[in-house]
Amino acid sequence: MNKMKAKHTTAHVLETGLVAEKFAKDLLKKRTLKHAAVIGLTGDLGAGKTTFVKAFARGLGIKETVVSPTFVLERVYKLPKTSPFSHLVHIDAYRLKGAGELLGLGWDALIANPKNLIMIEWADNVAPILPQKTIHLFFSHKGGDKRNIEIKIQK
Ligand SMILES: Nc1ncnc2c1ncn2[C@@H]1O[C@H](COP(=O)(O)OP(=O)(O)O)[C@@H](O)[C@H]1O
Ligand SMILES: [Mg+2]
Repeated sequence: MNKMKAKHTTAHVLETGLVAEKFAKDLLKKRTLKHAAVIGLTGDLGAGKTTFVKAFARGLGIKETVVSPTFVLERVYKLPKTSPFSHLVHIDAYRLKGAGELLGLGWDALIANPKNLIMIEWADNVAPILPQKTIHLFFSHKGGDKRNIEIKIQK
């Protein structure tokens, strides 16, 4: 199996933003799935998952401000017509008891649509239902404003 791994250390929130915007642009060039593209974000509170999604959304051309979906579970943003995807779905699985809860919220329909681009924070909470080709992003604190971001792609 073809795997790709990349590791970034950022020293500022803006630097995380640059990594996220570039990641978004690269992803748009490579998309070839029959189902939704899923990006799972894993890491402690404050490790930078939402910060990454905000800049990622900017990189996709979303002009609206992306707000953390912690309390609403899911927010959906429309993507520009030029994008191969129609919607960015931002999910926060922090409050979910497990994968079953996400299935009850229409996960299968979300996944079935190849025009959906799904970013899911706390992906480790729902690991059993993530597609095999999920791109995994791991975030960790490295003291002060330093953060590690590890990207794992299985092609
Ligand atoms: N290098 C960095 N990358 C990302 N966030 C950073 C960085 N340095 C400091 N921060 C701060 O850390 C916090 C990250 O919060 P957030 O992105 O909401 O985390 P999470 O969604 O993982 O809980 C923000 O307050 C952000 O300003
Ligand atoms: Mg968050």
